[in-house]
Amino acid sequence: MADLPQDLRTALEAALSNVPAAQLTSSFQRLSTRYREEQAATSPIMASPADVITYSAYRMPATFAAVRSTLEQVALQLPDFAPVKQLDLGGGTGSAVWAATDVWPSLANVTVLEQVTEAIALGKKLTANAESPAVRTTTWTTGRLDQSTFESADLVTVSYVLSELSTEQQQNLVAQLATQQGLVALIEPGTPGGYERIVAARDQLIAAGHSVIAPCPHDLACPIPRGRDWCHFTSRVNRSAVHRRTKGAELGFEDEKFSYVVTSPTLRAHAANRVLRHPQQRKGLVSLRLCTDAGELREELVSKRQGPLYRTARNTEFGDPWPT
Ligand SMILES: C[S@@+](CC[C@H](N)C(=O)[O-])C[C@H]1O[C@@H](n2cnc3c(N)ncnc32)[C@H](O)[C@@H]1O
Repeated sequence: MADLPQDLRTALEAALSNVPAAQLTSSFQRLSTRYREEQAATSPIMASPADVITYSAYRMPATFAAVRSTLEQVALQLPDFAPVKQLDLGGGTGSAVWAATDVWPSLANVTVLEQVTEAIALGKKLTANAESPAVRTTTWTTGRLDQSTFESADLVTVSYVLSELSTEQQQNLVAQLATQQGLVALIEPGTPGGYERIVAARDQLIAAGHSVIAPCPHDLACPIPRGRDWCHFTSRVNRSAVHRRTKGAELGFEDEKFSYVVTSPTLRAHAANRVLRHPQQRKGLVSLRLCTDAGELREELVSKRQGPLYRTARNTEFGDPWPT
């Protein structure tokens, strides 16, 4: 469970306090239908102040959770990685900034590049009183990804953006990311389409000399049978009252599905295996579906007789490295 930091929750509650429920519900219907299409946008999808505030109510908790879970896995693989500079491309209202600084308090210099001025206005408002100096002093730049040359950074985040770009724009963006010296983190919805975009970007980055830090335990071809399955993970998100009202939802939580890849042109580190499903627990047995460092998919059964390994397996979660 990746809850929003308390200072972000407080800022969101203040920003949302005077927004009529009917406005949130109607913007939510339009935005969620459009985002589900996963079609490249010829003009910004989240365009008006009403869209932006609605996005912050129902998507920021989920995109924060997905980015945080992703970066947590990177921190496990690279315990000495202490980034100072983050560049967040298509940053919207800033979820990835909050997530990255939550994982790496070493961050001190953060820039968001975003095309929608209303998203930047809300992002600035939300970060104005953040506890983290890095979040508070974020530089918000208005601009288009397809018309910009990026400065280098220790960490570049591109979260839930690729689907809004044409295939050619995605390839141009990834080609530019491949020239970065720092880590490149791409996160997409955990749908077949999101996975395809991540695999295409992964292949392009590897061809340009990058190595995968997470989730893949290898730089070989993805072994998941295309068209029949797709690699994705989940993060549980608590729904606040306004989140539930915006979506017309009753449950107090939701599971955000996401696909991701994080690569580096210089660092080499990855898990020995990655757990690709919720581990199945049967009497005295835990069954793990793994992607291995040989670039293969494999089931591993861990039995109670294996003592400490069994106890570790029982506490292992979907998306974790194995052995943990
Ligand atoms: C679904 S939102 C994701 C926002 C944020 N990264 C997050 O994870 O919550 C996609 C964002 O990408 C921005 N975007 C899409 N295409 C862009 C482009 N060509 N240049 C700059 N920003 C772009 C949109 O304006 C929007 O804010």
